[in-house]
Amino acid sequence: MTENSYDYRIVRGFVFSALFWLIIGLIVGLWIAFEMFNPGLNLTPWLSFGRLRVVHTNGLGLGFGLAGIFAATYYILQKLTRTPIVFPRLARFHLYLFNIIIALAALSLFAGMSTTKEYAELEWPLDIAVVVMWVIFAVNVFASLIRRKEKQMYVSLWYIIAMTVTIAVLYIVNNLAVPVNFFKSYSLYAGVNDANVQWWYGHNIVGFIFTVPILAMFYYFLPVSSGLPLYSHRLSIISFWSLIFAYLWTGAHHLMLTPVPEWIQTVAIAFSIFLIAPSWGSVVNGYYTLQGNWDKMRSNYLIKFFILGITFYGLQTIQGPTQGLRTLNAFFHYTDWVIGHVHMGTMGWVTMTISASFYYMIPKISGRPLHSIKIANVHFWLILMGQLLWTVTMWIGGIQQGAMWKATDPDGSLTYNFLDSIASLYPYYQIRFAAGVVYFVGILLFAWNIFVTIRKSEK
Ligand code: HEM
Ligand code: HEM
Repeated sequence: MTENSYDYRIVRGFVFSALFWLIIGLIVGLWIAFEMFNPGLNLTPWLSFGRLRVVHTNGLGLGFGLAGIFAATYYILQKLTRTPIVFPRLARFHLYLFNIIIALAALSLFAGMSTTKEYAELEWPLDIAVVVMWVIFAVNVFASLIRRKEKQMYVSLWYIIAMTVTIAVLYIVNNLAVPVNFFKSYSLYAGVNDANVQWWYGHNIVGFIFTVPILAMFYYFLPVSSGLPLYSHRLSIISFWSLIFAYLWTGAHHLMLTPVPEWIQTVAIAFSIFLIAPSWGSVVNGYYTLQGNWDKMRSNYLIKFFILGITFYGLQTIQGPTQGLRTLNAFFHYTDWVIGHVHMGTMGWVTMTISASFYYMIPKISGRPLHSIKIANVHFWLILMGQLLWTVTMWIGGIQQGAMWKATDPDGSLTYNFLDSIASLYPYYQIRFAAGVVYFVGILLFAWNIFVTIRKSEK
């Protein structure tokens, strides 16, 4: 198979889409971070925190995250199966449909149309469009696998299969609803059942977007960009199957101390702790791949993205099971500690891995070196510093918040009311905003670097 027979236009299209939605999602993120210490800015319903928060989460999770994943998947799939995209026109339709869906999603959420189920806020017509889009994507994934010229299935392909199948199941089951009109529907589930299905979905949609396909990228791009073979294929497969075995049982750790039956909560805690093993199986595999070649962290600009990325994943997968324990969750739930957890994963692990994957793919497919490695290095340090300051500030703020909510006077009454606790966090929110700006500048440099590299290759 020669390099020319692969179809990379679709990869480039999704790279552009990812960068576009990343910038939009971050602008909204910065705005809502600013609103947190300037609540007067909730001027109209259209600018209210409640509406914009979902534009931020959908724009970044579904817009940036999924587009990055589609870009990398279409690239990895062709390389690892040694088969060009089987249905290129379908793939192009996938690209257009994806962008139309995300634009309509942002618009409808902005207009206040929402099912109110977290990460499943889109109303039913858009849900149907998402399912159609996913089937189109799955057709190409499975057609490539069936027609593959490479018999061996490298671990990244397993992660891609797991994502493709699981997201379809999760999305359809949790979004089953009864429409009342074109813009409004009600969930098929009610009460505790609704909560249980919702968080089975919520946890796993996060996992099968922000973990599983990101691991597929990590396992593929770390060896190819470092020129070092993966430390252990056996460990990668054991980690994969044990991750998949455990992941889907843990959703109820989002529902600790609620009316959900206690045994379901306990099962979720047990599987969450179990998850440390497969997660660290991947972390250790990454570290050992660099064994004896740690100087590449300095000499190869991509390696530090991957290694810091997997390190944040490792930290995230220790923090997660810990904060899911009943006693700790009683303290941390609803606090900014969890917001810190989310953003170490998204601004650290996810962004770093997707960034490095784009930096690897774009020069390869445009046949030109990256516009500027220096800019890529500045991008790295800005997003690292921005993310660290962002998350550490939220952890400290979260501890203060939890402590204030629990504080009681000698007569047993609460020492602080809720508003006191929010107002006392303003300094933390100001630091978070500043950290967000640092991170955002890093992202702008990233987008610029990729854009110029592609433009130069077209001349
Ligand atoms: C072993 C792995 C992990 C476990 C056991 C875990 C556990 C948890 C728990 C218990 C919560 C809920 C805290 C609360 O609301 O009280 C949570 C929230 C969250 N985690 Fe993790 N986590 C893990 C890894 C990750 C990773 C790698 C990401 C990727 C970014 C991630 C993203 C999130 C998100 C987005 C939320 C917020 C969900 C919401 O909207 O309420 N987690 N996690
Ligand atoms: C400049 C960078 C960023 C800023 C300023 C920012 C800001 C925010 C703010 C203010 C919230 C709401 C917190 C709250 O309700 O108290 C939030 C939530 C969230 N953000 Fe970001 N964000 C940034 C980057 C990202 C990135 C890169 C992603 C994903 C790729 C992301 C995904 C999320 C998610 C999933 C939540 C929901 C968390 C939960 O419900 O627990 N954010 N963000």
